[in-house]
Amino acid sequence: MLPLVDKPLIQYTVEEAVASGIEDIIIITGRGKRAIEDHFDRSLELEENLKGTGKSQVLHQIRQISNLANFCYVRQSEALGLGHAVLCAQHLIGNEPFAVILGDEVIDATVPALAQLISVYQKRHGAVLGVQDIPRQDVSRYGIVTPKRLANGLHRVKNMVEKPSPADAPSTLAVIGRYILPPEIFPILRKTAPGKNGEIQLTDALKELAKKSPMFAQEIKGHRHDAGDKLGFLIATVEFALKNPSLGTDFSEYLVSRANMISSDRRK
Ligand code: G1P
Repeated sequence: MLPLVDKPLIQYTVEEAVASGIEDIIIITGRGKRAIEDHFDRSLELEENLKGTGKSQVLHQIRQISNLANFCYVRQSEALGLGHAVLCAQHLIGNEPFAVILGDEVIDATVPALAQLISVYQKRHGAVLGVQDIPRQDVSRYGIVTPKRLANGLHRVKNMVEKPSPADAPSTLAVIGRYILPPEIFPILRKTAPGKNGEIQLTDALKELAKKSPMFAQEIKGHRHDAGDKLGFLIATVEFALKNPSLGTDFSEYLVSRANMISSDRRK
């Protein structure tokens, strides 16, 4: 729920899903996260208060949030890993392909990141993972694929490893929190034992799935922000503030004057 300029992080990923054609959204939450449900619900008291103030644009924006999609919530009672979190939604997903979005990765893209993966799925009919080429020293923060290049930006996934050391990484293509998965992942997840960090890793289940059916990695075109990381969050805030129509100009003037002060301090 941390706000990135003027809306919570999670809203960016919900808007990405909606812009990619997704209508039903399941949010896997945990203890102490009720604010998420309230955010995507109608806020009748707030709407009532806004009615008398002439702030009709704000009123419209508030109403729009609950109209974005059909929301449904599942609570993961213990933080047992990403694989376990996905498994918590099996009874709601049933026997259909579905998308997974990790809320701390915000991707600013002309074609929404998820839509880029959906179009690969529609042509190739296999699991599709969103990837990005990253510096080798960062591989130990991500799931890394063993790719076989098929076309520009598109790879077949032969194998995967969760958070390898730079020396052991099979490539520098990192999974960046966007997946299109078939329901066949569920029985595999049920059998997946805890892996890296003692968690049930989605990566371990995907590795098994890749042995049985074709899996693809699409390099996502767009600007990715790892908002789960302190520096990444700060950079994302600056970038979105600069793009914001009502803040961008004033904020960039502030940044320029601040940068000038920093460089004159450095020269002293
Ligand atoms: C998770 C996944 C990892 C993926 C990453 C993307 O890790 O396990 O494979 O590369 O998200 O953000 P986490 O960041 O939750 O540790």
